[in-house]
Amino acid sequence: MIGLTNASHDEVVMSKQTGLSTDDPYGGRQPTSHERHAGQPWDASYRDGPAPWDIGAPQPAVVRLASAGVFGGAVLDAGCGTGDNALHIAARGLHILGFDVAETAVSIARDSAAARGLDAEFIVADALNLDRLDRVFDTVLDCALFHTFDSDERREYVASLASVTRSGAYLYLLCFGDADPETAGPHPVSRHELSAPFTPGSGWSIVSVSPERLQARFAPEGAPAWLAKVERIEPYD
Ligand SMILES: C[S@@+](CC[C@H](N)C(=O)[O-])C[C@H]1O[C@@H](n2cnc3c(N)ncnc32)[C@H](O)[C@@H]1O
Repeated sequence: MIGLTNASHDEVVMSKQTGLSTDDPYGGRQPTSHERHAGQPWDASYRDGPAPWDIGAPQPAVVRLASAGVFGGAVLDAGCGTGDNALHIAARGLHILGFDVAETAVSIARDSAAARGLDAEFIVADALNLDRLDRVFDTVLDCALFHTFDSDERREYVASLASVTRSGAYLYLLCFGDADPETAGPHPVSRHELSAPFTPGSGWSIVSVSPERLQARFAPEGAPAWLAKVERIEPYD
């Protein structure tokens, strides 16, 4: 595992010796609110077949964004899962780094990239500690990660993203929305909750928010979602 989590020296040594993950299923990081609620790490969702959100193809909204040419420069896919969105972007000739805390998902994404001969990088990393990447990106895609965080984690996440993006970068964020409670996906986010962490001092400014749909295995027609375009700006208070 690429050591971007909080694994101690002993854990890293053990991991290198065994070739397996550390005994800590969270790899030394703090479990997220979602994981505490679920009682298991994200990785568990990928071990026995496709996860409920894994449609085995890029999200139609991501395909539209890519066709519109919004991804440029160094591209980051936050919480990339099994990599279908990142690989769709890579297939357009862009270099992309996808990261996820779920080692199984990252391994599937790497295998898919190799099988398709695509130049996409996939690593295990924590969205809440991206400064450890020591890299800078021009475009970020978040497809269904933001909504899994609670409000404190969202503020941490936005700061973490700011640490790896240059001024003028864009974040394209797709999350489940609250437009229709009957068909809402898990963790539906209101328009106000979506905007809340992007304060003037956060280094981000929302450019637009529009209604979207996010497909899932449990919602093949798509559940209500938001698409936010957010610009990286110089922070001010
Ligand atoms: C709902 S899934 C979406 C996966 C993928 N983007 C897609 O569209 O299929 C959320 C993903 O975020 C990952 N994730 C959750 N918390 C994370 C964190 N702190 N850092 C990195 N990835 C995280 C999960 O492992 C999971 O793969």
